[in-house]
Formats: sequence, structure tokens, C-alpha cells
Amino acid sequence: MQLTVIGTGYLGAVHAACMADIGHDVLGVDVDSEKITALIEGRPPFYEPGFDDVLTRALASGRLRFTTSLREAAAHGEVHFICVGTPQQAGSLAADMRYVDAVVDGLVPHLPASCLLVGKSTVPVGTTARLTSRIADLAPEGVRAEVAWNPEFLREGFAVEDTLRPDRLVAGITSREADETLRRVYAPMLEAGVPYISTDPSTAELVKVAANSFLATKISFINAMAEVCDAAGADVATLADALGHDTRIGRRFLNAGLGFGGGCLPKDIRAFTARAEELGVGPAIAFLHQVDEINERQRTRTVALARQMAGGDLTGRRVAVLGATFKPDSDDVRDSPALAVAMSLHRQGADVRVHDPEGTANARLAHPELRCSSDLLTVCQGAEIVLHLTEWGQYREVDPVKLARVVRRPVLIDGRNALSHDTWRAAGWTVKALGRPASPGLPSAARAGEPLRALIAPMAAEPGRT
Ligand code: UDX
Repeated sequence: MQLTVIGTGYLGAVHAACMADIGHDVLGVDVDSEKITALIEGRPPFYEPGFDDVLTRALASGRLRFTTSLREAAAHGEVHFICVGTPQQAGSLAADMRYVDAVVDGLVPHLPASCLLVGKSTVPVGTTARLTSRIADLAPEGVRAEVAWNPEFLREGFAVEDTLRPDRLVAGITSREADETLRRVYAPMLEAGVPYISTDPSTAELVKVAANSFLATKISFINAMAEVCDAAGADVATLADALGHDTRIGRRFLNAGLGFGGGCLPKDIRAFTARAEELGVGPAIAFLHQVDEINERQRTRTVALARQMAGGDLTGRRVAVLGATFKPDSDDVRDSPALAVAMSLHRQGADVRVHDPEGTANARLAHPELRCSSDLLTVCQGAEIVLHLTEWGQYREVDPVKLARVVRRPVLIDGRNALSHDTWRAAGWTVKALGRPASPGLPSAARAGEPLRALIAPMAAEPGRT
């Protein structure tokens, strides 16, 4: 089939390459000419495991091309996928729909024949209906452009896998033709047994925001439990394991720590609350404000923990931050909890060095004031506290004995509860993590009700330090 994929970010570029990989003739479109040049040359404009292979294969097959021209896209596609961003609006919780609207406005007047526009971006419920009337005004005489919504659930770091083998496909359609067209697009997946749910557009739009809201709620739930664990001297990791054995609950997305970030979860729950207000059902999902608040609090609590470990004052203290991206296996630093903590430590006067295997370029762009490097030993040299804030696999391979020789003081805050605390303690490190009992050598965590602050032995202040 002749497909266009408009917007070549993490979602669109992977979708375009994967659609070509399963046999379609695909034209990828973006306004960013640098990104398009990179893609044409087979250079992924972002880090995503496995994407370079699919891109190379798809380009070599001749079934994948790229352009910056929406006119060219209009002429090419029988199905046009809209994959542009819907970021949070400045000064509001709502989603900014200007990029979606710009695609429609730029594409539809040039359509030579009837076709299907398929939205994949995460949007406020009601968007398909709104775009349908916008398109009716823009389409050339005799051309019918129908809109369907087919939300994308891919996770960064697993984007190729999630696109080629999704958990489910959801199609929000208004006609049988649209349903049949989408089934033809995804025929190889359907043959492989991927569940396909066809429904009305509003339900399809809602599935996506509901899924992300549920995931965010699950993370904030376990982080709220971590705070209770700190007060009670209990262990949130064991709690999560025990909860997770209940198959109705499940263990996934119950990892307590620094909380969620990225380009999706935070802005999606905010946009959902804004849309619910517009629909007059704000109170029904008011709990999402608290989900957001609990999530933000993990960042503050982590910084407070670092301050306490530094004896109450971070001024001039050398701190190593492991991880800049919002999650491992990605170079994405949008709303990164790790960088938010690093910036807060920096603002409090700490001498912060940040390590990340893939995200240093984006981290430097976002926060030029931070010193970032992809050399772990350089970053940790002379550090008085090491904060593990993004759980890259390579941090689990670090030898804590060797690292202890490089730092000034072997103090670790595991903000992701992902390192082997016993191993690090055996190597002489003082280890602290939110929701976990204090390490041996620190005051007993067993006194129920004692606040976190009292459970952490502050590091002795540097003699002579003001
Ligand atoms: C998310 C959704 O999972 C995906 O379906 C949707 O299409 C886009 O948004 P993504 O943003 O790539 O995907 O990341 P995800 O794996 O969901 O992680 C989001 C954040 O939650 C990360 O910052 C991660 O570190 C954090 N997280 C995840 C936790 O803090 N604890 C967990 O148990 C799981």
C-alpha cells in the first residue's frame, strides 16, 4: 500500500521504517530538513535500539523515502499517518494541537483523491470529530478524506519491537472502508495473532490516555507506598514483589524510585485532566493531579536525601549523577527526572557531574550549565555522593570496589532501586534508597513513625567548610 507517515520523531520514524519493512511503500515527512537528510542517509536522528537496522533494511529495499513536502505526501498516500507531537501547552495543562492542525491544513488542500487520514498521536478525546469538520472545509471538490484514530502504545527503548509486535491494535473508525483499510495496513500483525479492537474514534482516543493514566497511577501508587515504608521502616521493594504476585495487580510498573518522566506520561495525564474539565467531568479524574504531585515529590525527596547525606548543605559538594535520560535505552531527556534532580542539586550549590551512555548531547542542549560526560570514571572522580537516577544496564555492571577507589566518599543514593545494595554495602558503600530500610551503620529504621530525615545519618561536614 502507498503510505505516508507525517512527523518523524521517535514514533513516526520507527513507524515509517517498520511499515516499509512489512512491505508497504512509505514516504516519511517532516518539516525538519536536517532530520530528513539524516534519515535519507540512514542515520537515525535519535538513539533507539534496533532502529538503525530496520532503517537500513527499509531504505535498501527502496520502499522507504523521505521528504519535507506535504504536497508530495498528498500525492503519494492512500493512507496518511499523523505522528506529530502534541506537547503540553505553555502556561496550561492542555495539549498543544498546533502541529496536528498544521499537518491537516498543509496536506488536505493538496489531496488529489479520496484517502484515509489516520491519527497516531496522543490527543484530547474528540479530536477525530473536530478534525473531520476541519477537513470538510479544506478538501478539494469531490475529494473525501476520512479520519480514523489508531493510537500508538510504543515505549521508547522498545519502539521497533512494540511497532512490529504490539500488544494490541486499536482502530477508532467511522466506516467499514476505514476498518478494512487499516486491517490491510496491519495484515501481517493480524495474521500473527495481534488482537485488533475496532471501535468508535472517541473510545480509541481515550484508550491511549487511559492506558498512560493507569501506568502513571501505578507508579505513583508504589512511590506513595515508598514514602509510607520510609516512615514505618518497611521495604517497598519486597512490598512490590509481594503485591506483584497477585496476578490481578502484576509486578510491572511497580518499581519505586524517582518516578516517571519523558515526553508522554507527565503531559498526557495533565492534558487528560484539562480535557476532562472541558467535558465537565474534572472531578472524575481529579486523582490524576495527585498522581502528578506524588511523582514530582519523588524528585524533591531525592534531592532532600542528597542534602541530608551531605550534612545539610550541598554548597561546593562534588556530586556524581548517573543517568540523564528519562529512562534507559533512550537518548530522550524530555522531562527527565534525573536531570530535574541534577539541576536542583546544581541550584543548591553542588558541583554536579552527570554521566549518561547516550544522552549527554541532549542533556547539554537542555541544560548547558550542567557538566555531562559519557565517561563514568571522570564523572565519579572525587564525588562525595553518587546518585543512580536512570537505570541503564551498564550501571549494574559497575564494580563498586573499583568505584570506591575513585570517589572521595563511598555514598550511593539509588534513585531507581535497581542496584544490588548488598553488593555495594559489602564493598564499603553507604547505600540509601527511597522506601528502603536504612543501611547498616545508619540509625535503625525499625522505629515506626520516625520521619525519613531522622533515619539518615548525615555525612560529617567537611572541616573548615562553611
Ligand atoms: C509510555 C507508555 O509506556 C507507552 O505505552 C506510551 O506509548 C508512551 O508513554 P515511555 O514514555 O517510552 O512509554 O516510557 P515507559 O516505559 O512507560 O516509562 C515512563 C517512565 O516511568 C520512565 O521515566 C520510567 O523510568 C518510569 N517508571 C516506569 C517508573 O518510575 N517505575 C516503573 O515501575 C516503570
